[in-house]
Amino acid sequence: MFGLGALVLSMSMGGLSYFTARHFLLNERHNTSVQQAYVNASLIRTYLHSGSSKVNALGSLASGFGSHSVLFDKGKWYPGSISIGQSAIPRQLRALVISGTPATQNITLDGAPQIVVGIPVPSVHAAYFEFFDVSDLAHTLQVLATTLFAAGLVTTLLGAAVGRSASGRSLRPLSEVSDAAVAIAGGDLKTRLPVASGDPDLAGLTSSFNYMVDQLGERIEREARFTSDVSHELRSPLTTLSASLDVLESGQDQLSPRSARALALLSADLHRFQRMVGDLLEISRSDSGSAEIWLEEVHAGELVRRSVEVGSRTLPKGVSPPNVTVDPAVESAQLMVDKRRFERVIANLLENAALYGGGARSVKVTPRQSKGGSAQCVVVAVEDNGPGVSRQERHKVFERFYRGQAAGQRGTGTGTGLGLALVAEHVRLLKGSVWVDDTPGGGARFNVELPVADSSEWSST
Ligand SMILES: Nc1ncnc2c1ncn2[C@@H]1O[C@H](COP(=O)(O)OP(=O)(O)OP(=O)(O)O)[C@@H](O)[C@H]1O
Ligand SMILES: [Mg+2]
Repeated sequence: MFGLGALVLSMSMGGLSYFTARHFLLNERHNTSVQQAYVNASLIRTYLHSGSSKVNALGSLASGFGSHSVLFDKGKWYPGSISIGQSAIPRQLRALVISGTPATQNITLDGAPQIVVGIPVPSVHAAYFEFFDVSDLAHTLQVLATTLFAAGLVTTLLGAAVGRSASGRSLRPLSEVSDAAVAIAGGDLKTRLPVASGDPDLAGLTSSFNYMVDQLGERIEREARFTSDVSHELRSPLTTLSASLDVLESGQDQLSPRSARALALLSADLHRFQRMVGDLLEISRSDSGSAEIWLEEVHAGELVRRSVEVGSRTLPKGVSPPNVTVDPAVESAQLMVDKRRFERVIANLLENAALYGGGARSVKVTPRQSKGGSAQCVVVAVEDNGPGVSRQERHKVFERFYRGQAAGQRGTGTGTGLGLALVAEHVRLLKGSVWVDDTPGGGARFNVELPVADSSEWSST
């Protein structure tokens, strides 16, 4: 905008200066030319009255600005020089002046601009014409236009540069606020704005922004602590309940069929409750930032095979473990992971595949370039043959307590909708990402992407 303003201003000032100067110079030259032509016409009249020859009369005239004269006397033409004759005078001008009206006209002769002044001399039945070359004026105007244009250009560039530096300086605090807001939205609640001491307006903004983040952090922490406290408090009565239930189950034979069924229902729900409390505790730890991570360096192939083996142990009876295929390029890629968390991720995905997709068909490990293209990653994809996850649900399934269509259709009362939320938390702590898409056959494919610790040991094939 600064540049544009400078352009408009300099161009309008330049244009105004140019046209004023042009008007003034042309007017000046026009007046001088007409004056000189009148003086010469009166001299011609005196000469012709005194009976001097026309050639002598023309030769004695003043010729300022390199002017050329042409005399018309009694039907004949007498040019003052050999270069310009009567043919150069426009027909209309000629007729007008000979008929007794003085006139001027701007013409171009051999590429040179000229002012032609025609003055009738009725007392001797003559007409006097004079050509004034104004090329020098055109050249002056050309130089003036070029200079003004160059000055306008420099002013515009200067305006743009000043505008850029001024807006950059005044917008910097805003871009800092925007960066901080993005960092906070990304989960970094430690981000704060530097306190601006020089600018009182800015100081108010930064202090209220930092206060808002403090409050937000405290609130999140309070909520996470509350969930964690509740889960903790629930654990001990649940353990007591579970122990009592074990005692009851040991004497199941003595119970009536109705009581035995009630006991089985109670046992299933207690199991589910215990699991939910465990999951909630785990999630609240990660929310409050108190989750402990034990990172180890492991080979991708070995880690995935081992995790699938562990995860398959807890699968319902009759569900066969999936095929594990590892791309040779990533077989020995080094991953920095918390084995327990990764095993939980795979176990949850295998359990879901068993519940909603008829069992996982395969687990594939492949290389991948990260989004920015800078780091190498490994993708572990768990595929099944089930109905898949609809596009509308693909984000929602990772939300807490979300139970999707597949769970509803099956009427499985066992899930709580925390499994994939936990998967997402574990993967986030491992600095990876997780998403779901579908296999070519339509089944669900859950992808876990993890960064490679040292990519020098493997190469893309
Ligand atoms: N392999 C899959 N195929 C189809 N839908 C799936 C699959 N895995 C998960 N879902 C859908 O995503 C929802 C959320 O899964 P999530 O594991 O978070 O919860 P859950 O399995 O219902 O309960 P929880 O795992 O806590 O016991 C499921 O209810 C189901 O609708
Ligand atoms: Mg689940």
